[in-house]
Amino acid sequence: MICLHKASRIVVFALSGFLIVGMGSCKVASAAGENAETQTAKPVTDCYESREDYATVSRTENAVPEYGFPSIKCSKTTGAVLWYGDPYEGTIPMGAMPEIKDQTHGNFANAVVKPREPHLTYFNLGPNGCKTCHDGKTVPNPKDGKPRLLSMHQDIVENSLELQHGRGAVWCLDCHSPTNRNKLMNRRGDKISFNQPQRICGECHGEKYIDWRAGIHGKIIGSWASDGGKRRWWVCTECHNPHTVQKNRFNPVKPEPPPPLPRGMKNASHERSETE
Ligand code: HEC
Ligand code: HEC
Ligand code: HEC
Ligand code: HEC
Repeated sequence: MICLHKASRIVVFALSGFLIVGMGSCKVASAAGENAETQTAKPVTDCYESREDYATVSRTENAVPEYGFPSIKCSKTTGAVLWYGDPYEGTIPMGAMPEIKDQTHGNFANAVVKPREPHLTYFNLGPNGCKTCHDGKTVPNPKDGKPRLLSMHQDIVENSLELQHGRGAVWCLDCHSPTNRNKLMNRRGDKISFNQPQRICGECHGEKYIDWRAGIHGKIIGSWASDGGKRRWWVCTECHNPHTVQKNRFNPVKPEPPPPLPRGMKNASHERSETE
């Protein structure tokens, strides 16, 4: 992340929050990795955004052929993304936004996000996503919404009777649909894609959601031209693990100085933030 922005205090915080979250080291930062960088055009996954393991990104060489930039540059020490050659690689349209009737307005026509589904282990275990098991037969749909001790998914929620979100007031089925496990579900029963977590988080965290939408909370990069250029929003779950927020809201590690820009890249103004 190059911080060429003259951003307000809050945004600097949010941006550095992005850069510094997550512990761990670059997994393939070896000599082999260096070779891969110059010799092959195959995507390499050795780098993550915000939350390690939950926001891994693949690096594609020569993503900007004009200059020979890779799609991303990864830190050798933390494994975090440092800058983007192509900030929109792998993004999809944000889609419908939650309806919150307030005075703030936004233009989301060109808003894009990185989809979450490819990052979810259980979603990718079989051809039908979570329904590979949660088809109503192999794993029966839960009888009611009462918390119980689960004999599954302990890698995601260690002890389901002590879910680290909501201080005992929140259970799996406040967010997951009981009948279509490939979807999240809000209070009205709307089925929501894992790629749009803001639509459920925003129901209980309305103020944070309004700030997020306005670019005050979280992170956005892109074009701030009034012509409605493309912009990428980071979704809530790229920074917050919904199953552990009570234990650690966020996991900061030390920020690093920005690296030099690649040859030919004049500036990183596509990464400037809106609220400057
Ligand atoms: C390999 C099979 C398998 C896959 C794939 C799977 N689950 Fe499950 N899941 C289970 C089993 C088995 C249980 C019930 C465990 C129990 O009752 O002790 C369960 C329980 C749950 C529960 C607790 C509520 C309930 O239904 O009782 C949630 C929430 C859940 N799974 C979410 C998911 C999500 C989301 C996905 C996909 C991202 C997924 N699961 C994929 C096997 C699976
Ligand atoms: C506050 C909302 C919320 C609650 C409560 C919640 N989840 Fe989730 N869960 C999510 C979201 C959002 C995702 C997608 C996370 C992401 O994008 O990284 C998810 C993902 C999952 C996955 C897929 C993870 C993977 O990597 O494959 C499983 C399994 C799961 N949840 C199980 C549970 C179980 C079991 C419970 C209850 C003990 C539970 N969840 C409670 C919101 C919630
Ligand atoms: C059903 C309501 C509900 C939903 C949906 C929900 N949360 Fe929460 N969340 C809560 C409650 C309740 C708390 C505990 C607040 C407290 O202790 O003051 C909480 C706490 C948190 C905290 C920690 C706040 C703190 O001060 O420690 C974070 C971060 C958070 N939620 C993020 C999320 C994200 C991200 C999502 C969407 C994936 C989400 N929440 C969805 C109800 C919800
Ligand atoms: C780019 C990363 C990022 C994104 C995206 C993001 N957050 Fe946060 N969030 C943070 C950081 C950093 C904190 C501060 C953590 C702390 O104080 O310990 C935080 C704090 C919070 C808190 C704790 C309340 C408080 O006042 O301290 C809640 C609740 C929350 N976020 C909800 C959300 C929701 C809902 C979304 C999506 C609409 C979201 N966040 C998107 C990084 C992010």
